Amino acid sequence: MSLDIQVRTAQPLDLAVDVLVIGVARASGKAPPLPASLKPLDDALGGVLTKLVAKEEFTGKRDQSVSLSSLGRIKADKVFVLGLGDRRSLGGPQLRTFAARAARCAGGEKARSLAIVLPPGVEGDLRAVAEGLELGAYQFTKYLTGDRKPKTELATVIVACAGKLRPTSKAAVALGQKVGQAVNLSRDLSNEPGNVMYPETFAAAAEKVAKDSGLKIQVFDFREIRKRGMKLIDAVGRGSARDPRFVHIAWAPKGAKRKLVFVGKGITFDSGGLSIKPAAGMGEMKHDMSGAANVVAMMAAVAALKPRVEVHAIAPCAENMPDGDAYRPGDIFGSLDGKTVEIVNTDAEGRLVLADALAYARALSPDILVDNATLTGACVVALGNTCSGWYANDEGAAREFAAALKQSGELMWRMPLLEDLRDQIKSDVADVKQAGDRYGGSITAALFLREFVGEARWIHCDIAGPSALDRPNGWAQTKGATGHAVLTFLAMIERAAR
Ligand code: BES
Ligand code: MN
Ligand code: ZN
Repeated sequence: MSLDIQVRTAQPLDLAVDVLVIGVARASGKAPPLPASLKPLDDALGGVLTKLVAKEEFTGKRDQSVSLSSLGRIKADKVFVLGLGDRRSLGGPQLRTFAARAARCAGGEKARSLAIVLPPGVEGDLRAVAEGLELGAYQFTKYLTGDRKPKTELATVIVACAGKLRPTSKAAVALGQKVGQAVNLSRDLSNEPGNVMYPETFAAAAEKVAKDSGLKIQVFDFREIRKRGMKLIDAVGRGSARDPRFVHIAWAPKGAKRKLVFVGKGITFDSGGLSIKPAAGMGEMKHDMSGAANVVAMMAAVAALKPRVEVHAIAPCAENMPDGDAYRPGDIFGSLDGKTVEIVNTDAEGRLVLADALAYARALSPDILVDNATLTGACVVALGNTCSGWYANDEGAAREFAAALKQSGELMWRMPLLEDLRDQIKSDVADVKQAGDRYGGSITAALFLREFVGEARWIHCDIAGPSALDRPNGWAQTKGATGHAVLTFLAMIERAAR
């Protein structure tokens, strides 16, 4: 359900809500941590706020917080004061994180209503605030019944501003909600278990997104996939009772000067195939379609943003299972690109479906081709589970991507396409070997993908972990790359539209 978000000029004292969350920037020098604007509130609370702040040594640092029950002294039941960090670095990403933390504070109190108070003078980025509220209110509870079913959910949020409201505030909030809801849609798709979300149902979900947003969509079934020569998607999908699908959604406005194409790995469940994974943690592999979920859900936001840029989302979907007809280590397959591939490990399936999808995508002649995939455990080992890795084969594209990352605040670290490791994917019997050794596993996977992008300017994201946007409390309910990268891709699109 969508939140009812109202922006109002209001005093914290007057807000009758279940939870009141006040953002306080870090005090400079010897200044007291609480700004003068909070004096009336502190007075009404009998000075408890000042005492608490002193006792907890709260200075407004990014991860700090204090909370108290108002016990009827003000209209709000519970008050949280959250640190925002340095005022100078208080931009969209920080406000988004603050709003997400506020929504989670409300969630922890089982609140129906929330009010958030921004520090005086930073009424700025209401879109980011609305994005954060939607993101922080996210829960995946659809399979809980009876007592386990949550009885309350956050319904209304007041964003209290000190100054006069800008005429654009309503539109900014509405857009922010659409964007936040798009990221949440990606999380929903990713959180669905493998018995519910398989290639056919994923494609149906993509069709719903396209229909609801008025976008063009094409879905190729297994016959079409084979007919078109997508032999690597065929190889990965053939061992499952659930047939593969290939999804392509497009936004093509008149007068668009640039074209961005996004590809996402859509392995709806990754058992490892015949090179089967150990039992521990295999269930996490229901999230192995997070890249596909990201690009499909992103299109819902694209439809709302209406950028003057052509945008495509492409999702090769398959389930990786062991079976009598499954592909095997040692097999050799052709590909849509034409290159032949020697299989060495059926658990390195993501790069195979991506190889065919990248070959398909580059034929659209994009200005920049971007893919994202829960591709390697090696990348998680290297960067931890809150940070993704990214690669670029072109410095101009890399600059654009780096700028988008800065704007979104999502945590991704650039990795090198080390030519030294290229030898690892040389094959004696085919044009290229599917995987290298254990060492440098994320890099050799990226080098393998590079074989299929031709001359395209290309960015590859090896995604993992919950979105790192609001690390302090971890906003994702479950593991998996829930929505990470969507905000960065949207920033890229909006920058290209300028
Ligand atoms: N989906 C996995 C990668 C993964 C594992 C991402 C855990 C996030 C968390 C991928 O298909 C895979 O199994 N990769 C193998 C590649 C190897 C066989 C060359 C890996 O990383 O072990
Ligand atoms: Mn795998
Ligand atoms: Zn996988």
